[in-house]
Amino acid sequence: MENQGLKELYIDELKDLYSAENQLVKALPKLAKGSASQELRAGFEEHLEQTKGHVERLEQIFEMLGESPKGKKCAGMEGLVEEGSEVMKEDLEGAVLDAALIGAAQRVEHYEIAAYGTARALAETLGESEHVSLLEATLAEEKETDEKLTDLAKQINQQAVSGDRVQPERDQAQGKKRARRIA
Ligand SMILES: [Fe+2]
Repeated sequence: MENQGLKELYIDELKDLYSAENQLVKALPKLAKGSASQELRAGFEEHLEQTKGHVERLEQIFEMLGESPKGKKCAGMEGLVEEGSEVMKEDLEGAVLDAALIGAAQRVEHYEIAAYGTARALAETLGESEHVSLLEATLAEEKETDEKLTDLAKQINQQAVSGDRVQPERDQAQGKKRARRIA
């Protein structure tokens, strides 16, 4: 009986994640478009592709469970996405805008890291080892994205304090070179 309750909770957590990831699939192109630097834009675009994979992994889990992934709206992600769009409405530009967008994106990543950690723990308890592997694969990508954002923030914050001293041309060339390793 207790196990049944835990399984219901697990499915509920997964539905929440499914909603969160789908909201992110819609929000990431906007964040990419709103980024000042090519590097951050490329990072958001890369994470969009990863996020589509996260949706697919969740669909695989739901298929194994014989359950529908639909039926829940993740209010947490809704709020985080809303905060991200507020950042874009503010009167920010250049590196300061990007620093603010990274702040919003890292809140999203931390939220997802917490949610996937919970789901993984529930999957472990319920003995769903295939689910554990899938959830862990996504969790690792979320953590990696968060770390990349931390690295990018160091660089962008530095640009923000040094103002316009950085040549736009040089900026672009660097963006192209680094775009591949940023998520
Ligand atoms: Fe994700």
